[in-house]
Amino acid sequence: MERLDKRLSQAGYGRKDARELIRRGRVTVDGRVAARPEEKCPPEAEIAVDGQVLGGGFVYLMLHKPAGVVSATEDRRERTVLELLPDDLRRRALFPVGRLDKDATGLLLLTDDGPLAHRLLSPRFHVDKTYAVEVEGTFDAEDVAAFADGMTLADGQMCRPATLRPTGPGQGLVTLGEGKYHQVKRMCAARGKPVRHLTRVAFGPLTLDPGLAPGAFRPLTREEVAALLAAAEGPGGGASSN
Ligand code: URA
Repeated sequence: MERLDKRLSQAGYGRKDARELIRRGRVTVDGRVAARPEEKCPPEAEIAVDGQVLGGGFVYLMLHKPAGVVSATEDRRERTVLELLPDDLRRRALFPVGRLDKDATGLLLLTDDGPLAHRLLSPRFHVDKTYAVEVEGTFDAEDVAAFADGMTLADGQMCRPATLRPTGPGQGLVTLGEGKYHQVKRMCAARGKPVRHLTRVAFGPLTLDPGLAPGAFRPLTREEVAALLAAAEGPGGGASSN
């Protein structure tokens, strides 16, 4: 038997949020509205939040990565994104799907669904990622065309065509279907516009939740998980079994 708030936090809700959800009567255990966070539940109890049953399977979290932490599961010197999670979740074998640089911020997906992560990162599936960048200088029509043509980086690596949408002086939105090392920074540098700040605002069908402060996370909704699974279907693909 385990405490209800613990079961919720294992599914990705922060302990404080879990208590608040219970207090507001939004959590049911086997169809009955739960009254207390300390309530003990057997492992087979069906727990639902707003009528949505918690999956006993994989965990999917959207994290707003802050600057200064690395997108890794462990690191001898640096603080990792996993250290932002409570102990209950750290005991799950979660890992970040793809990387954001240490100084970059924004949407990072954390999961323990290896097959899904593999497909989302595979070049075969072309999952688009969108980054809001601040650069030195201001993007112009030639930059937009260079991104659209598919540019060659300083070391000779070729990039697939990408989308650059200038959004203001020294600002733009870059959308890529691939993920080479420091790719956005290197593409902007190749145009003579070094990146000052980079934040990922979208990953496939997911968009960064504006309610998440840097360092905060939340579980994906059912709809978001379904959209991710759909994005990872494709040549040789097939939905994950969660
Ligand atoms: N491109 C970069 O240069 N850095 C990131 O963190 C992500 C994409």
